[in-house]
Amino acid sequence: MIKKCLFPAAGYGTRFLPATKSMPKEMMPVVNKPLIEYGVDEAVEAGMTEICMVTGRGKRALEDHFDINYELEHQISGTGKESMLGHIRGVMESCRFSYTRQTEMKGLGHAILTGQTLVGDQPFAVVLADDLCVNPGGPGVLAQMAKLYRQFRCSIVAVQEVPEDQVHKYGVIAGDVIRDDILRVTDMVEKPTREEAPSNLAIIGRYILTPDIFDLIANTEPGKGGEIQITDALLKQAQEGCVLAYRFKGTRFDCGSVEGFIDATNYCYDHFYRAGE
Ligand code: G1P
Repeated sequence: MIKKCLFPAAGYGTRFLPATKSMPKEMMPVVNKPLIEYGVDEAVEAGMTEICMVTGRGKRALEDHFDINYELEHQISGTGKESMLGHIRGVMESCRFSYTRQTEMKGLGHAILTGQTLVGDQPFAVVLADDLCVNPGGPGVLAQMAKLYRQFRCSIVAVQEVPEDQVHKYGVIAGDVIRDDILRVTDMVEKPTREEAPSNLAIIGRYILTPDIFDLIANTEPGKGGEIQITDALLKQAQEGCVLAYRFKGTRFDCGSVEGFIDATNYCYDHFYRAGE
């Protein structure tokens, strides 16, 4: 069973400035719940109880969000508003939270390596909270991947088809089909041009990683954008052993872009907020 889920959350979120000048981008509310909490809920649903976050300067609101706010809770205790904190209190009680800081922004691979101190020597999940994933009526994306991990015992990346003019925004894979929804990765390129892209199957922000990835990252030279890329470390893992790409069931919203964020907001308003009224 995978118990730990790592949330790299040190990035700046410059696309949402000025909103993210002093507020972590992961705290941007999609209706009435911050992005990070959607990610944590997905991890909890997948059976993960140890939530590990890689934060940075100006990110303390993340820790405060998953902590008790005595004054506020005392104030609303016994009123109709108390129930609005019921869900997150349940999450706080069922999970253990730990944090470490990334002091320099050297890429997603570097952020994940920074989390090694929290993760230790066991397989773990990674959630990029910018990607909000839903699968109404079925298991969440991380739960689908945790189930696959139990069968295959190797690293897994979630992928989806994207239009060819979008491949430059993603890590893009090529692989041999081993089941209609699973490929064994043979190639992986971070943010390729349309010509360089080995396919139009893009990695989205859900990973299951085996702990040997840490040594591979530590030995990975800076790649695209001068940053240490998890994609490059995963390619080495795929070449030396096995990495799977999984076409997940569900919908993913790119909340790192304004358009995706608005789409997620409309979706969550209709499906979760209004439906719960
Ligand atoms: C990161 C990864 C990329 C992946 C993407 C998914 O890029 O480097 O491989 O496809 O997340 O959201 P970022 O969006 O952080 O630039």
